[in-house]
Amino acid sequence: MENYKRNIIITGGAGFIGSHVVRLFVNKYPEYRIVNLDKLTYAGNLANLKDVEDESNYVFEKADICDFDKMIEIIRKYKIDGIIHLAAESHVDRSIKDPFTFARTNVMGTLSLLQAAKICWEETVEKYSGKLFYHISTDEVYGSLQFDGTFFTEETKYQPHSPYSASKAGSDHFVRAFHDTYGMPTIVTNCSNNYGPYQFPEKLIPLFINNIRHGKPLPVYGKGENVRDWLYVEDHARAIDLIFHKGKVADTYNIGGFNEWRNIDLVKVIIRTVDRLLGNPAGTSDRLITYVADRKGHDLRYAIDSTKLRNELGWKPGLQFEEGIEKTVRWYLDNQEWLENVTSGDYLRYYDEMYLNR
Ligand code: NAD
Ligand code: TYD
Repeated sequence: MENYKRNIIITGGAGFIGSHVVRLFVNKYPEYRIVNLDKLTYAGNLANLKDVEDESNYVFEKADICDFDKMIEIIRKYKIDGIIHLAAESHVDRSIKDPFTFARTNVMGTLSLLQAAKICWEETVEKYSGKLFYHISTDEVYGSLQFDGTFFTEETKYQPHSPYSASKAGSDHFVRAFHDTYGMPTIVTNCSNNYGPYQFPEKLIPLFINNIRHGKPLPVYGKGENVRDWLYVEDHARAIDLIFHKGKVADTYNIGGFNEWRNIDLVKVIIRTVDRLLGNPAGTSDRLITYVADRKGHDLRYAIDSTKLRNELGWKPGLQFEEGIEKTVRWYLDNQEWLENVTSGDYLRYYDEMYLNR
């Protein structure tokens, strides 16, 4: 086996954010071996990583983080010293319909990975030295803010409302408990809503771009007054890179770009951008806005204060929102094949075709 400077598992690497993190690490660090560990649920799509799949420092392992024996086997096999944990069930609407799957993957899966890392790392000569378990979480664990100009900071008390955020909160607690109880080097980061290429079109931005393209209704929940804080996905991936290398063990960092949007205002920006790029007269797709029943327990407002990350590690978002949304809309319009594969389910065969049959 080749000698790599670091051997890192990125879980959930076939998903939206994970694929950007894998791409960044594989390209930027040829001296690291990057093991993409993913179960390939409906949200995992290896076509997201076509451009790096043949790199010699990239490996794909199809596995479920809940499979404890398999986690042990993979950590030992690759002599893993770093874990960047993104694998999760991630969609709030699905969590409302099927909370058990969220508890299983997000809580039990994270615990299984932690326990496997503990066993494998404690059996090495250097124990926890040079190791890191970096857990990627969400701002949604902090609950919901009013329209009062306040922000979530690293000190904000956890108050999750949805089964999704409750399961992410549970996983965050387990990660911190593994540091406090066993001395495992851990870091947790809580990021705001991400947007950009390769996001599964069940989330607001890609869903609405796709629907406008096909002249389909845009289901705005409630009055469209809920506020989300949007960050371009590559800025999140850069933050993860920085924190993985420079972050303080046992610490927490909030990641966000101070970029709050009311849903309805964001939808109007998306409509304007799609219409312009498709060459439609301005206002063509406004008629698609359809107000529908509100999401149960719909959090009113999220807003992240990322001052600590900026002050301590010098991170700041690289992209202005206007630029990011233009890039994103353009990407989905230019990548119709990707969207069609995802919406038709064809992408689910990619693993069999590329990995099993070659
Ligand atoms: P995603 O749903 O696009 O991808 C999740 C990935 O995890 C998929 O590839 C899926 O196949 C894999 N996965 C699911 N269950 C698994 C299991 N049991 N074992 C192995 N792999 C499994 O999610 P995303 O939007 O890329 O989010 C990634 C992480 O970032 C999640 O932990 C999420 O909570 C967190 N996060 C997301 C956002 C956001 O706006 N999307 C914001 C902040 C934090
Ligand atoms: P989403 O992209 O699901 O992210 P999250 O729930 O994690 O914030 O939703 C973003 C916002 O858009 C949220 O306030 C719910 C709202 N929304 C709609 O109004 N209609 C939709 O069809 C979807 C998917 C979301």
